[in-house]
Amino acid sequence: MVQFDQPLVVLQDAIKQKSAVKFAQGYADLTLACSGCHKSAGVGFIAIKKPTSSPFCDQTFEPVAR
Ligand code: HEC
Repeated sequence: MVQFDQPLVVLQDAIKQKSAVKFAQGYADLTLACSGCHKSAGVGFIAIKKPTSSPFCDQTFEPVAR
């Protein structure tokens, strides 16, 4: 059985602590857990990877003065 809780707890803590470094590690571990479960469930062709671009391609997230 693939352990799924741990990477989620790490991500939650990273967000609470506003730690980009911990978030990146937690996200990488979560992604491995996704694909690990797919492999052990016989659907290893569903391989998850880190996104390479934002799904919001027409929106900018730069801070602006109010
Ligand atoms: C407990 C095991 C397990 C975990 C953990 C898991 N998956 Fe899956 N996932 C499956 C199984 C089994 C299927 C195939 C379901 C089916 O046969 O329709 C699936 C299917 C999918 C699909 C295809 C759905 C579709 O309809 O095309 C996607 C996308 C997906 N998972 C993403 C993820 C992501 C992202 C994560 C991690 C955040 C994740 N999964 C974690 C077991 C898991």
